[in-house]
Amino acid sequence: MDPVASTSDPDLDLFIFGATGDLSVRKLLPALYMAHLHGNLPAGARILAVGRQALSREGFIQQVLGGARQFIEARALQAEAWDRFEALIDYVALDATQAEDFVRLARHSRPGAQRVFYLATAPSLFTRICAHLAGAGLVDAQARVVLEKPLGHDMASARAINAEVGRFFEERQIFRIDHYLGKETVQNLMVLRFGNAIFEPLWRAPFIRSVQITVAETVGVGSRAGFYDGTGALRDMVQNHLLQMLCIVAMEPPVSLDPDAIRDEKLKVLRSLRPMGPAEIARDVIRGQYTAGTVQQRAVAGYLQEDGVPPDSRTETFVSLKAHIDNWRWGNVPFFLRTGKCLAERCSEIVIDFAGQPFSLFPDTYRSAGNRLVIRLQPEESVQLQIMAKEPGSGMKRRPVSLDLDLHTAFTERRAEAYERLLIDVIRGRLTHFMRHDELEAAWAWVEPILHGWAAQGDAPRPYAAGTWGPAASSALMARHDMQWSEEA
Ligand code: BG6
Repeated sequence: MDPVASTSDPDLDLFIFGATGDLSVRKLLPALYMAHLHGNLPAGARILAVGRQALSREGFIQQVLGGARQFIEARALQAEAWDRFEALIDYVALDATQAEDFVRLARHSRPGAQRVFYLATAPSLFTRICAHLAGAGLVDAQARVVLEKPLGHDMASARAINAEVGRFFEERQIFRIDHYLGKETVQNLMVLRFGNAIFEPLWRAPFIRSVQITVAETVGVGSRAGFYDGTGALRDMVQNHLLQMLCIVAMEPPVSLDPDAIRDEKLKVLRSLRPMGPAEIARDVIRGQYTAGTVQQRAVAGYLQEDGVPPDSRTETFVSLKAHIDNWRWGNVPFFLRTGKCLAERCSEIVIDFAGQPFSLFPDTYRSAGNRLVIRLQPEESVQLQIMAKEPGSGMKRRPVSLDLDLHTAFTERRAEAYERLLIDVIRGRLTHFMRHDELEAAWAWVEPILHGWAAQGDAPRPYAAGTWGPAASSALMARHDMQWSEEA
């Protein structure tokens, strides 16, 4: 990563609202420390941590250090660099509902500084914070605001956030974060598709038979029941992370790398998603909820037994579904999306399943050519192309083998975490890897009918034992199309 620090940079005042919260301690402050360690924060950067708790600066720094010890690799946590980083931080206790508190906050900001406001708070506070920032004279033409998900609970609330934040910030000043867009392999997907000519002619129907996008987690709901139970997997993961990955897989080549050129193409994909009616929702969308089980040799409680989860909760912790993109390129190619908590393995991947050959010359039972391109995001970053090869020995028997590219071996450079990369993008004013208002709304427009459909069906999510790959109905969804999830193939 090329350093951004330069003496010509304006001073940077980075405000983090919700600074004592989980995201800030676990991700944002460690990411800022790493950016600082590698010379990627501007020379005149300061971090103004803003929270509700009445803490002294020292008290806050102790909290940050506690988080750093847990969430920063020990060898990166260097005493001297940490001391210099600490010196950039100040803490301001503030009640987001009180306009006077923002007037007090304004005294901490330097005139002429580039201001970035990172709102890592409940979305219900976004509007009020923006209004009070503007009221205190903190929002100028160069200010930027970063909005952390969830960006709304449904279409109406997402629209309201867009409209309200839009009263104080122009679209070019608004950075809607989806941290999946900051992941190296997700960004690499653009290069794989548009930086190589060999895939493009095949990247369409009828040469692609199906696409699978999986984000499987082994963790459960943990201490986040308060948030998660009112959210569920569809809103938490599908509406944003999975649909954003689908966009990058399915979009047309943009005319340039300009943020709007890319976001225009992603928007077209979202708008081409075939709307789901009650029949499709009942047939093609599977929702599940984990019950007690064993995840990687660890016994785990069921979702309903987790702290803070109501005993009759119907919140889904698993979703798999079949989507279609109604356009020329993707006519009738199913896109299977799947995500869940407490699954068998932590694995995020995109699988492009190429069509089989029209006629087989070989004396084996493989019906298709078995060609799959597997793009792994997590736990390892790799690209594999599965091909058929001749089995050694006499005869002409085929067997699937894989061409493997391990991106960690191929590139030895340090790989920044998604949040570090995205924070640097915000500081540089680069919008490419952030969602535009219309993308957000188009994603809700497709997801919301599913939520309504579930409410109308009135049934409970299907149970699945923790440590499995979700309800059996998820495999049956694939089987109906004579297909299998990648771990079953
Ligand atoms: C977050 C969700 O956006 O993404 C979490 O709110 C989820 O529920 C997380 O665990 C997964 O992110 P990652 O980077 O660990 O795959």
